[in-house]
Amino acid sequence: MQQYNILVLAGDGIGPEIVNEGLELLKQVEKIDNCSFNISEELVGGAAIDAYGEAIKDETIQIAKESNAVLWGAVGGPKWDNPSSSVRPEQGLLKIRSELNLWANLRPVKIWGELINASSIKKEKLVDVDILVIRELISGAYFGKPQERREKNGKREAVDTIYYNEDQIANVAHLGFQLALKRKGKLHSVDKANVLESSRLWREVVHEIQPQYKDVEFQDILVDAATMHLIRQPADFDVIIASNLFGDIITDEASMLSGSLGMLPSASLSSLSEEGTGIGLYEPIHGSAPDIAGQGIANPIAMFLCIAMMFRHSLNQEVIANKIEKSVEKVIGYGLRTKDISNDSDNPVSTKEMAKAIIDEYKKL
Ligand code: IPM
Ligand code: MG
Repeated sequence: MQQYNILVLAGDGIGPEIVNEGLELLKQVEKIDNCSFNISEELVGGAAIDAYGEAIKDETIQIAKESNAVLWGAVGGPKWDNPSSSVRPEQGLLKIRSELNLWANLRPVKIWGELINASSIKKEKLVDVDILVIRELISGAYFGKPQERREKNGKREAVDTIYYNEDQIANVAHLGFQLALKRKGKLHSVDKANVLESSRLWREVVHEIQPQYKDVEFQDILVDAATMHLIRQPADFDVIIASNLFGDIITDEASMLSGSLGMLPSASLSSLSEEGTGIGLYEPIHGSAPDIAGQGIANPIAMFLCIAMMFRHSLNQEVIANKIEKSVEKVIGYGLRTKDISNDSDNPVSTKEMAKAIIDEYKKL
């Protein structure tokens, strides 16, 4: 029997509600799929600030390093919203990404046929949209130094730094080309090479690597043009690679194509070997949604799809991953909807009802 160590970091807002349902799914997997999970749970984000005065403890990072995968709920909320506070919930997320060397952030954006009306984009634009954004996650503007506030001649000033070295860029580029080969064979590299030196290096390195992947149809695209094109002709994209900050922005934009943030998972990985193993952190794209927290109405599907990605990328269990995704498809197919994806006419179900229905389908497969 396969045994896995999973660290569960539910965080704030709806985080604990969706993570609890994820744990129910894991219990079911244990029952029927001949594997077992050794689960640790720790506080992160605002919950950890309240308990320990910091957004993630070093001990928690240590447990993560000894785990096969980390399931992350969501962090943040109005209680900890002061941007000038020296401790903020998001620091926990940035620290664990960096400490675990999770440089590759995979954000798939898939349009669910049955939910096409949920998008604010015209239906005909959305046919065939299936995008994978790979965002560099532990460098660039988020981590470059100096990053500081200072004073000059009695006036406040601030500086952030975009730093990239060629190895960091090459890793993302190789991953982008390799994943494009497994998909529709197209890659767009997003940069701002007409203005930024770091983007000119990005472009140069990607171009040096490109001849190794002659079967991939490749194109550079400036970030401003990319945001426009993503709305105008989203089906033109297959795989997109981008730096940390640009990737952050365009993935929020791309997620709106699907119209339902509650359906989108993400994986943050330190490597992507052919065997698909390596520690990863799995996190829904939606945030902590404090406005609906505690009401039992959050959509657990992004979390379930995160768990599917975890089986695929960290635990090397493709069959289980596919079964979870199938179960979600079944339930969406027969019309079950949580509030975020329902039309006025539907009768929305609770977090628990949705989760139970998916788990029931899983049992049948
Ligand atoms: C994301 C989020 C985070 C980021 C925040 C919460 C720090 O927006 O995962 O996209 O900017 O990376
Ligand atoms: Mg973001």
